[in-house]
Amino acid sequence: MTHPPTPTQLIDRFGRTVDYLRISITDRCDFRCVYCMAEDMTFLPRAQILTLEEIYTLAQAFAELGVKKIRVTGGEPLVRKGALELLQNIGSIENLDELVITTNGSQLETMAADLKEAGVKRINISLDTLDADKFKSITRTGDLHQVLKGIQAVKSVGFERIKINSVILKDRNHLEVCDLVQFAVDNGIDISFIEEMPLGIVSQHDRSEAYYSSALIKADLARDFSLVATAEKTGGPSNYFSVVGSQTRVGFISPHSENFCSTCNRVRLTVEGQLLLCLGNEHSVDLKKVLRANPGNRDVLKQAIIDAMQIKPEKHEFNIHEQPVILRHMNMTGG
Ligand code: GTP
Ligand code: 5AD
Ligand code: SF4
Repeated sequence: MTHPPTPTQLIDRFGRTVDYLRISITDRCDFRCVYCMAEDMTFLPRAQILTLEEIYTLAQAFAELGVKKIRVTGGEPLVRKGALELLQNIGSIENLDELVITTNGSQLETMAADLKEAGVKRINISLDTLDADKFKSITRTGDLHQVLKGIQAVKSVGFERIKINSVILKDRNHLEVCDLVQFAVDNGIDISFIEEMPLGIVSQHDRSEAYYSSALIKADLARDFSLVATAEKTGGPSNYFSVVGSQTRVGFISPHSENFCSTCNRVRLTVEGQLLLCLGNEHSVDLKKVLRANPGNRDVLKQAIIDAMQIKPEKHEFNIHEQPVILRHMNMTGG
């Protein structure tokens, strides 16, 4: 019997090509950011999570199906033992254009050089405030100075691009947007501002009251900076503007005010082995089950991934005025 050839591109029902995989390699984190987690979190037991070898096998399968960019996330990816070795392995996968990570920065001071060595091209670092007390109150456990040292370390090692991610909450850090851009300009790095998304129940603020739109941020920035729209894309949801007179690009990730789902090119793998077809929906396929039921059979795994494209939803439906529909917290998906 002859089988049709395996497609080498993942295409969903809406004609979108999926070439970007985000892999959460741990749900654990040394921070407890107020918009991401509850204060008192229970993390997954070890028996439930993918091994590093399984994650590598899955990454290879996705690369064989046309994925060009892999972003490793968490929780905090760099707190998982063996993270560097895994990154090295993923970094050496043929046909992959980019290995990138998103981190809270807490481990960068010691790991920056090894990350570069492992083949990481770009690093996105969460930083919502430059005030040490506010940083402690937003992250609950984080130390601003440790993260700032981490940013200097990645700068001195040199990556293709370093970007700060700032989630802006009204009355918590919205008055700092100009200072954050100035910090990016002074350091020759980029920054993206993110509208908070309602994933999981959080206790410290009402998400509807804390909403601060990208349009408001742009208006605030216009007082100190001249921003010019660019057509640049990094394969993620940011719309970029360049800051006149600097190397810095300012991105806006606006899930509420400017839906970007029509150009969605990504899927997510959780550390439990669930393939999530959309951040804002529950549609998923249990790839851990497929992997463990068919050891060594890459074709069955690849077919399960191809089939999963049929259930990728058209768009997210976030409503910050109601209790969150999606109960998983952001640390399960790394954003
Ligand atoms: P670049 O490769 O630099 O463009 O990064 P990225 O924006 O794709 O990744 P990052 O991990 O820095 O994520 C920044 C923010 O974008 C996080 O808050 C993510 O949750 C959010 N984000 C990324 N992809 C999606 C998506 O498909 N849908 C939604 N709603 N948010 C997303
Ligand atoms: N809404 C928007 N962004 C979030 N992040 C974490 N939780 C949320 C949320 N509820 C961001 C982090 C990190 C990125 C992976 O996701 O700040 O930069
Ligand atoms: Fe940790 Fe990132 Fe979540 Fe903050 S946003 S608690 S740093 S996973």
